[in-house]
Amino acid sequence: MIKAVRGTRDLLPPDTDLWNRVEAQVRDVFARYNYHEIRTPIFEDTQLFSRSVGEETDIVSKEMFTWEVAGDPERVAGILDAESLSLTLRPENTAGVVRAYIQHGLDRAGKLQKLYYIGPQFRRERPQKGRYRQFYQIGAEIIGPPSAGSESPLRDAEVLEMLATLLDEVGLRDWQLQLNSVGCAEDRARYNQALREALQPVVHLMCTDCQRRAQTNPLRVLDCKVPEDQPIVERLPKISQYLDEPCCVHFQLVRAMLDAVGIAYTINERMVRGLDYYTRTTFEFTHGGLGAQSAVLGGGRYDGLSESLEGPKAPGIGFAIGEDRLILALQSQGEKPAEKVQAYIAPLGAGMNVHVLKLARELRRAGISADIGDETFRLKKSFESAEKAGARFIVIVGENEVAAEQFAVKNLASGEQVQVPRAELAAHLRK
Ligand code: HAM
Repeated sequence: MIKAVRGTRDLLPPDTDLWNRVEAQVRDVFARYNYHEIRTPIFEDTQLFSRSVGEETDIVSKEMFTWEVAGDPERVAGILDAESLSLTLRPENTAGVVRAYIQHGLDRAGKLQKLYYIGPQFRRERPQKGRYRQFYQIGAEIIGPPSAGSESPLRDAEVLEMLATLLDEVGLRDWQLQLNSVGCAEDRARYNQALREALQPVVHLMCTDCQRRAQTNPLRVLDCKVPEDQPIVERLPKISQYLDEPCCVHFQLVRAMLDAVGIAYTINERMVRGLDYYTRTTFEFTHGGLGAQSAVLGGGRYDGLSESLEGPKAPGIGFAIGEDRLILALQSQGEKPAEKVQAYIAPLGAGMNVHVLKLARELRRAGISADIGDETFRLKKSFESAEKAGARFIVIVGENEVAAEQFAVKNLASGEQVQVPRAELAAHLRK
């Protein structure tokens, strides 16, 4: 038997009802904050990720699904341009959004672009609860020219305030916000130098990944998950000691605005996030119901990303929610997904199917969700089917009912049964 590939999963009803409810609520929040949807391709030129997320990150060095497309037929068919022969399933969506921003000259609008996306991402990680090889992100980015205020700490605060609202509205309780600043490129250069010096006498005791990273990108040593390396990692200098004056002020202003709107956070100076494009504010929201993979979402500022992809100066900030994890966290709180269908319409006796179909059509067009039974069912079986369908009401349709334009309607929860005229049926079922 062929099964879903390791690290991928089928999402089935009733869980998908919860997924859809969350997505509808999230789209509503985005609309109120004036975000608009962007849809980028699921695969991109591999270089997009190596140049933005970073060669030395776990994502790019170990976790991408990459394949080479060589040979002339594709090129002749115009599927690929001559250079892009290495393709990668997107491991994240910020790079794709910024690529699209540059490609379509969105900076020329001279305003902030507020863009959101919902879709699958792919990373070859070791699968476990809350960690999959195909997973879903709900993300958003604010990006634009500095003249439109894209660097302002107000944007950081607005993003974080929206996330607090969004998580509250989808019903997640007891989330925690962890906040840090990783400074600007110059701060990072000084910090990397300090890390290099601190690592020099001890790095030979560390894993081979760290030995390489100490040379190429010391910051990434902080991502090391090898237990034996942790005592060394914990003693390394902290980024906060290397922030310059403007970055310190920026971070202070973000925190002051969060305080002013009453959003609680903890400063976590160890949180540098596993992607190279971040500058200044970085953050994660965690939830206790998730176990080891406790980050429901992560994000931060990326003021140099557009330029590193040969685009215009276009600072930005954004986040991605791990939708799989958000759903797990909601389920850990006992969230029940199933929405009940309002009416189950049961034919009583031969020749009633067409009447059932017509009545169901009327009700559905009036906005009532309805399911239908079959005239071959006995009344008892119809009640069982209505229960299985998860209906609130059963409506009995027999010859007498059709002639009288009046139907027996039973509330399946309370057991109460009443006669309802056809004209009042939709209103009755809506109650
Ligand atoms: P990230 O921290 O790599 O950031 O991923 C964001 C979230 O996606 C994580 O907090 C987690 O909830 C979820 N996630 C990541 N990997 C997996 C996985 N294998 N299985 C299930 N869930 C996962 C980014 O992707 C950045 N692009 C976020 C961002 C947007 N920064 C600025 N703008």
